[in-house]
Amino acid sequence: MPTVLSGIQPSGQLHLGNWAGAIRQFVDLQRDHDLFVFVASYHALTTTRGEELRSATRQVVIDYLAFGLDPHRAHIYLQQDVPEVTELAWILSCVCPKHLMDKAVSFKDKVARGLSASVGLYTYPILQAADILIVDADLVPVGKDQVQHIEITRDLAAKFNHHSGQEVFKLPDYRLAEHAQVLPGVDGEKMSKSYGNTIDPFMEEKALRKRIMKIVTDPTPQEEPKNPESCTVFQIFQGVTGAGDPRSQALADRYRAGGMGYGHAKQDLYELLMDTFSEARQRRAQLMAHPAQVDEVLAMGAAAARERAAQVMARVRSAAGL
Ligand code: ADP
Ligand code: TRP
Repeated sequence: MPTVLSGIQPSGQLHLGNWAGAIRQFVDLQRDHDLFVFVASYHALTTTRGEELRSATRQVVIDYLAFGLDPHRAHIYLQQDVPEVTELAWILSCVCPKHLMDKAVSFKDKVARGLSASVGLYTYPILQAADILIVDADLVPVGKDQVQHIEITRDLAAKFNHHSGQEVFKLPDYRLAEHAQVLPGVDGEKMSKSYGNTIDPFMEEKALRKRIMKIVTDPTPQEEPKNPESCTVFQIFQGVTGAGDPRSQALADRYRAGGMGYGHAKQDLYELLMDTFSEARQRRAQLMAHPAQVDEVLAMGAAAARERAAQVMARVRSAAGL
C-alpha cells in the first residue's frame, strides 16, 4: 500500500475551506493507503505559541476525527510527538543550499503579510521536507500553494541520496486536491483564517445560519434570473456537494429561472451544511466530552509514526556517518 502523508498547521479554527481542500481528501485516502496525518505544531511556532497553540493543536485533532478520519485506518499524530523530525530537519539543512530557501515564495508572502521574518519561518520548507521523508511517503496531497515545498523536498532528498551514494530517501510525489477549486469565504475572497471570512461547520446552529446570511451577494432583484457561477453562495454550495451533484444542478436551475432571492439560496446552503455535517457535529460533541479518547488516538498515532521514523533515521544516521 502506498504511504501518504499530509498535515495542517494549528494556527486557528479549521473551516469549510480546509475541509473541502484538504480533510475531505484525507478521509477518502484512508480507505486504500497507509495514511499519516499530523498536526504541524512545530510549524505553527512560526506564528503562535503558548496556550493559543496548545488549544488549536487539540482542536485540529478533534476536527480531524469529527470529519471522519478513522484512527484504525489512519495514523493521526502531533508533530511534537515525533521529535526525530527536528533531527532530520537539521541534517537536511546541512545539504540545503541557501539559494533554495531564498527562492521559496511562501517566506516572502508571509513576511509581506506582516509575519516576523524569523529563521524558523525562513527554513520552514526544510522542516516540511523532514515531515515527509521521515515516513517514506510516496504521495503528499496538498493545495497549490504547497507544490513548491514538495519540489524542495524532492530536491533535498535527491541531494542527500547523491552525497551518500545510496537511496536513503524515497522521492515523494504530490497530488492536488480533486476539487482543487478554492472555496470563497463570506466576502467572496478565498476563505482563509487570515481574512476573517470563514464558515465553521461546527458552529452552533443559529450562529451558523447568521454567518451564512452574511455572505455578500449582488443587488439583482428577486424576480430576475441570476448567474449561479458568479455567486458566492452557489460556489460554496457546489464546493460542498461536488460539481456534478444533482443538488447543485437543481439549485443552479432555480438561479437561472428567476423568482428566487439570494435569501432562499442561503437557506438551502444552511440546510446542506446541517445535513452534510450532522454526523460530524455529533462526533465532535462526543469527542469534546471524552478527552481521554483523543489522547488514546494520539498515543497510537505517535507510536506508529515513531516506529517508521526510527527505521528511516537508522538509514539516515548511518549514511551521514553519525
Ligand atoms: P488558511 O488559508 O485558512 O490559513 P491553511 O493555509 O492552513 O488555511 O490551509 C490548510 C489546508 O486547507 C491546505 O491544504 C489548503 O490548501 C486548504 N485550504 C485552505 N483554505 C482553502 C480554501 N478556501 N479552499 C480550498 N482549500 C483550502
Ligand atoms: N505547510 C503546510 C500548510 O501550510 C502544512 C505542512 C507542514 C505540511 N508539513 C507538511 C503539509 C507536510 C504536507 C506535508 O498547509
